[in-house]
Amino acid sequence: MTADSRSLKILTLETTCDETAAAVITGSLEVLGSVVASQDALHEKFGGVVPEIASRAHLENILPVIDETLRRSKVTLNDIDAIAVANMPGLAGSLLVGLIAAKTLALTLQKPLIAVNHLQAHIYACKVAFKEEIFPCAGLIVSGGHTSLYRCDGAIDFTLLGGTIDDAAGEAFDKVAAMLGLPFPGGPSIQRAATGGNPKAFSFPRSLLHEERLAFSFSGLKTAVRYHLFGQGKMEKVLSLTEPEIADIAASFQEAAVDCLVGKSLQALTQTGLSTLCVGGGVAANSRFRQKMEAAAQEKGFRLFIAPLALCTDNAVMGAIALERYRAGLFEPLDLDVLPGLVR
Ligand code: KG4
Ligand code: ZN
Repeated sequence: MTADSRSLKILTLETTCDETAAAVITGSLEVLGSVVASQDALHEKFGGVVPEIASRAHLENILPVIDETLRRSKVTLNDIDAIAVANMPGLAGSLLVGLIAAKTLALTLQKPLIAVNHLQAHIYACKVAFKEEIFPCAGLIVSGGHTSLYRCDGAIDFTLLGGTIDDAAGEAFDKVAAMLGLPFPGGPSIQRAATGGNPKAFSFPRSLLHEERLAFSFSGLKTAVRYHLFGQGKMEKVLSLTEPEIADIAASFQEAAVDCLVGKSLQALTQTGLSTLCVGGGVAANSRFRQKMEAAAQEKGFRLFIAPLALCTDNAVMGAIALERYRAGLFEPLDLDVLPGLVR
């Protein structure tokens, strides 16, 4: 394992949820090639990710995605020094497809196998994108499955500060979008619908925002939108909302969700004394979130790194965190397993 940084090349695989992704990254964090095969079209009619459909699609996609990544990277498998794979957390069936592919490559090529924690990788996307030292920092991961704050003392030294006690923020965006009859995935749909809407039209709850504990709750916000639309305790009925009505509800919901994310991140910085915040995960692609977070950073004077749009949603480039494990000699045996529920 003495490949020089510049010539070191790692193949990273990502299949934790519904994106099949691979990338080749060098020891100097240069991305030689990256491919993401989205399954959005397959899950859209169900209004959410169907785990069984996701794992089957990963099976179909994984080899073509790896081939295309190598082609774009202008390398062959023989040029690869290590195989990295996100084996935690995520959907068990989805994780298994990436893990088996990675193990097979590691075994046949006789190259080391490296485990990637998908949540840590979301934060590391900031380091890959900005090529700056980001540690120590507070890390906010805000995605379809997770909404958590971490103290990140190093790339492989994360401590959970707190997370959601019910829904993840992305899940709330997806469910509210479905209530409004907007297409999946809900985050981008809500953002689009909210354009031109009045964020103050309705006062939806900002749960836990005024408590000290570093926790999130989006279930009450989601229910408040439901009651607003359908009335308390009533059966859902098909609504015929006008575009301006949808815009106001979407903007007011988005504003409440963003206020919680920004507010709790500020509390995390104050409570830990850290002066850098890194943000990753699909919801970090939200333009209102980025705007409000950037304004807060200006006002309070902390360093802010938000992963660029292409690295917010799931991708394999953020698997570059495997380089840190490579350098620390942290390799895995071929009986490595998936850890679907791990959040630390
Ligand atoms: O990180 P990600 O791609 O997958 C998970 O690990 O969950 O995040 C997907 C989530 C979905 O809930 C999606 O609706 C949300 O990120 N999302 C957004 C936006 N783009 C994606 N939420 C709000 N605004 C967006 N622009
Ligand atoms: Zn993710």
